[in-house]
Amino acid sequence: MTPATLAISSAVPEHERRLGRNESYGALVARLSRQSVTKHFDAYADVEWDAADAAIDHADPRWEQPSDRPFGATAWYRALAQPTRAQLGLHLLATQVKIGIEFERVLKQGLLEFASTLPHDAPEFRYAYHEVIEETQHSLMFRELLVRIGLEVPGLGWLDRMGARRVARLGRKFPELFFLFVLGGEEPIDWAQRETLRSGRPVHPLVERVMRIHVTEEARHICFAREYLRHHVPRLPARQRAALALQAPLLLAQLTRQMMRPSAHVVRTYDIPSEVVAAAYTRNAAHRAFVAESLADVRGLCVELGLVTRWTRPIWRRLGLLESGA
Ligand SMILES: [Fe+2]
Ligand SMILES: [Fe+2]
Repeated sequence: MTPATLAISSAVPEHERRLGRNESYGALVARLSRQSVTKHFDAYADVEWDAADAAIDHADPRWEQPSDRPFGATAWYRALAQPTRAQLGLHLLATQVKIGIEFERVLKQGLLEFASTLPHDAPEFRYAYHEVIEETQHSLMFRELLVRIGLEVPGLGWLDRMGARRVARLGRKFPELFFLFVLGGEEPIDWAQRETLRSGRPVHPLVERVMRIHVTEEARHICFAREYLRHHVPRLPARQRAALALQAPLLLAQLTRQMMRPSAHVVRTYDIPSEVVAAAYTRNAAHRAFVAESLADVRGLCVELGLVTRWTRPIWRRLGLLESGA
């Protein structure tokens, strides 16, 4: 790890600690595949969807945004009737769950494209298929949660707008950029879920179970994507490295904007004034810091790989991807 990385990300992420120092890249990939056999979850067998405490009540105070979350901090939100505060909080969660399904669909398509370039005896081929299976179980969990929440969450279409097919094809044509996309989607959400689980705030048991399963398996996916990049980016021709350096901040900014902001549908449904959205998100220094912090690990990796250069650092700063003072 370079001194620059240390300055940006002080904590060594948990999934990094899993890697033994002398383990080769091939051995690591094989080990991750074996872990998929011994430690994996089924969306239906491993979640007690019909337990007595699993029912979802839209007015449950546990859905309310706490005062340290973007809307929770606004006077507008606090002035809403309690059932509306709870339902709006639940609707924000449902939107993220729906985005999760859409993101994972592109991820699975890209992983299959990636595997199509490999011989069947490559360790990455087996690993990619394990990850496709795990993401399919995640999407089934998310789907079941959405069904039980029962709020309208339209297909967001944002992934389509940013060229979902193009992203999936990257799995075959430019896997380094594809796995950066994977990290850009997985790490901020993983970080936000860990933060929720650590916070000690009351969490609905179904949501807690889904999050715990998700962070357990995501640690593997994040580990693979990071090690794939560490192994392959230094071997890229200069032109492709430059393309990666330029596209990395653009991709990360687009992903986090979509994942960490309320959807237009939620804004319309609850008639949220635009000044409230601006105060909660766009002009909210605490929210910007939260987003920048959630990207600390992927940003640290980009620094380590030499992708944050003299030329691209201003783009990172401009897009709000650097922590203040970085
Ligand atoms: Fe997932
Ligand atoms: Fe994943």
